[in-house]
Amino acid sequence: MGTIERLLEVDSSPSAFVESLQEYALTSHAANHPLLERIAVGDLPDIKANITFLLSEYYHYSHQFTRYLTAVMANLEAPKSRSALVQNAADESGYLQPSEAAELVKNGIDPEHAKAPHPELFRRFLRAIGAKPEEILKRKPFVATFAWVDAFRGLCMHGGEVQGVGALGIATEGIVAVMYRRILRGIAIAWPDMAPRDRVFFDLHAVVDDEHAHTLRDIAISLADTPETKRELAVGVYRALVIRSAFFDEMMAEIDASAAITPRPAINVAAQGALA
Ligand SMILES: [Fe+2]
Repeated sequence: MGTIERLLEVDSSPSAFVESLQEYALTSHAANHPLLERIAVGDLPDIKANITFLLSEYYHYSHQFTRYLTAVMANLEAPKSRSALVQNAADESGYLQPSEAAELVKNGIDPEHAKAPHPELFRRFLRAIGAKPEEILKRKPFVATFAWVDAFRGLCMHGGEVQGVGALGIATEGIVAVMYRRILRGIAIAWPDMAPRDRVFFDLHAVVDDEHAHTLRDIAISLADTPETKRELAVGVYRALVIRSAFFDEMMAEIDASAAITPRPAINVAAQGALA
């Protein structure tokens, strides 16, 4: 995979260009970050404490997901594109179309487990690992987390419709499945007995975000019809990947630095026995 600049040099159709951008995002440092690789094989100093740490920080980003989505929707000029994203927004609120429920069943996921707003599914996971979501939001996120969330939200709100679609679609929904599959492997190592209902946030997104990404990719294709809009799309993708990657860099450095000094204090972890 070459640089993102090279993709712009090829005189490709809108769909071929969007496909090449998606391939770039899927093979990017952000989507294949060493921290995710280490989680997948259990190569973390204290895997339970550090997955809890990472996903508690991630919750500061994740619980605002509908803000990013509705910002991108609001900026779309074509009514057809806005209405296409209504389904994504409904899914975020816990609605499941019969076809989506069937897709979940096909992937071994009980649709009943998934019928709740996605932030609530994330909170269910956090509680299952002994973290306290309400307390997480009361304390300040790490600088790197705040910077990522702030920059990403700003990109979705003020980056313009083309950059927003690139950031949220190709560089986020389009890479979620590969990232979450690695996180799920780490969860299975750290909490092998976790009930499927408790980890459904990750199972679900490893399936439905492929569909969400598909909707956003179609919108991206409809926008990428000039050299200028192709460039804008690439900028949105690049920005979103770089800021996500910087967040993972800092989280990994923090995990390793803490391990070098002392085991991570259980700031977000409930008292012993709370998982029983
Ligand atoms: Fe979601």
